[in-house]
Amino acid sequence: MNFPALVLEDDPQSHDNPWRLKTLSRSDLPEQGGSLVRVLYSSLNYKDGLAVSGKGKIVRGSFPFVPGIDLVGEVVETTGDRFEPGSLVIGTGWGIGENHWGGYSGYQFLNDDWLVDLPNGLDPFQAMVAGTAGLTAMLSVMEIEARAPSAGAIAVTGATGGVGSLSVAFLSRLGYEVVASTGKSEATPYLADLGATEVIARQELSAGATRPLDSARFVGAVDSVGGTTLETLLSVTGRHGVIASCGLAGGASFSSTVFPFILRGVALVGIDSNTCPRKTRERAWRRIGEALDDALVDRIGRKEPLAEVPRLAGEIVSGRVMGRIVIDVAGASVS
Ligand SMILES: NC(=O)c1ccc[n+]([C@@H]2O[C@H](COP(=O)([O-])OP(=O)(O)OC[C@H]3O[C@@H](n4cnc5c(N)ncnc54)[C@H](OP(=O)(O)O)[C@@H]3O)[C@@H](O)[C@H]2O)c1
Repeated sequence: MNFPALVLEDDPQSHDNPWRLKTLSRSDLPEQGGSLVRVLYSSLNYKDGLAVSGKGKIVRGSFPFVPGIDLVGEVVETTGDRFEPGSLVIGTGWGIGENHWGGYSGYQFLNDDWLVDLPNGLDPFQAMVAGTAGLTAMLSVMEIEARAPSAGAIAVTGATGGVGSLSVAFLSRLGYEVVASTGKSEATPYLADLGATEVIARQELSAGATRPLDSARFVGAVDSVGGTTLETLLSVTGRHGVIASCGLAGGASFSSTVFPFILRGVALVGIDSNTCPRKTRERAWRRIGEALDDALVDRIGRKEPLAEVPRLAGEIVSGRVMGRIVIDVAGASVS
């Protein structure tokens, strides 16, 4: 059994272009779990971009290493009782593609605890149009729903990215008024098509807060940008609003005061899709299955070959990707 894989031969943080498209066999795979999965698709997330380009310290395993934080595939063998041969499963988080070999490989051994069943309503391609980005977007939406903010607009930052696009789409389908913030001036039609009520320029929120409490503008936010954008969001979120903080595309650190929390009851909720507990994860995937229709998949997702991952990694890290890129792993050929 031979299959293709994108392998990081060495640490991309200290070596130029250490990736190779290689042909592996079963004995090359680390025994990192009891289910052998034939990978159909993976995807490209911001984290994958950092891992492959070496622009961030993502890979914690030893080299050689197979990245790819997302995968969907078919269980071909299993020692556990959770899945059967033929089960279609999604693997995201739990260190896949960071500590453990990931989705950019035709086959992978995976721990059953890292896998969930492909939910009703999604085929494998659609599942990877969502991927970690979709899971993160849905977990953010669920946090907003749980706080039931009053009527008003929800801001989505980094709106043309994976998390952003899916957040705009999920929120608008649930009837929320969505203000999409983007650095791409040409993206207004795309975001309006996803359901944004208003599209604003990134700079409106990225300049940072002018005062601890400014005029209330939003009742909630999904923030994949962080940094000074999060500072602004905290100052312009109204009474009992909720901000789901899920990313750092614009920066990791921010400063604020306690005033949004103690004078407006604003909630700042952290989202971690990586270690999200199984029950919540399964509920989120069921919700994604209900929300992601064919039209949305066509607007947001596109398929790219495995060999293109190194080039696309540079693009996603520099913020040039719109929507979601699905990586066609099963379609890659062995040399
Ligand atoms: N917490 C979790 O579990 C979790 C899961 C997945 C992702 N994340 C994080 O969420 C973020 C987004 O991930 P993704 O996969 O959606 O990435 P992505 O597709 O690359 O989207 C990021 C978007 O952020 C905006 N952006 C990029 N650079 C920026 C900058 N310097 N300043 C302000 N905005 C910038 C761009 O959108 P516009 O051009 O439209 O502004 C870009 O498309 C990343 O930080 C990622 O690590 C977290």
